Amino acid sequence: MKILMVCLGNICRSPLAEGILKSKLPQDLFTIDSAGTSNYHQGNPPDIRSINIARAHNINIVNQRARQFKVEDFDVYDLIYAMDSSNYKNITRLARTASDKSRVKLILNEITEFKLKDVPDPYYDQENGFLNVYKMLNIACDNIAKKIHNDSF
Ligand code: 4NP
Repeated sequence: MKILMVCLGNICRSPLAEGILKSKLPQDLFTIDSAGTSNYHQGNPPDIRSINIARAHNINIVNQRARQFKVEDFDVYDLIYAMDSSNYKNITRLARTASDKSRVKLILNEITEFKLKDVPDPYYDQENGFLNVYKMLNIACDNIAKKIHNDSF
């Protein structure tokens, strides 16, 4: 099973989501990647604040490099998680078929108790914005891992 995490820049939120979900699933059975809807940071490592909050939770994301989401990703990934509704719109705009579109989800919809639907963009925020993002992605990824791991065994 293949899962893609998507935000705007692919340097703050989706690299964290990728690292967190990877830490919860066996790497031999699941392929997890991330991308940005923009090409602003193409080729760059994650933002140092995402690297630091991941490292504080024993997750290493330093080797990730940003890339832009491409239409061919619909052919590769079973599930595509958008970090916010703007990312969701930008991804689904590229969908060629109903099947492409059906694979795109808002990640916070995986937390049924949450009213918040958008992972806040922490780029212009302070360090505690990144902790907040980490915490919500950790809950969402726990729910995703439980769901897909059970489904696949
Ligand atoms: P991300 O955060 O989408 O979570 O990676 C951002 C990173 C960079 C920019 C915006 C959001 N930017 O405008 O450069």
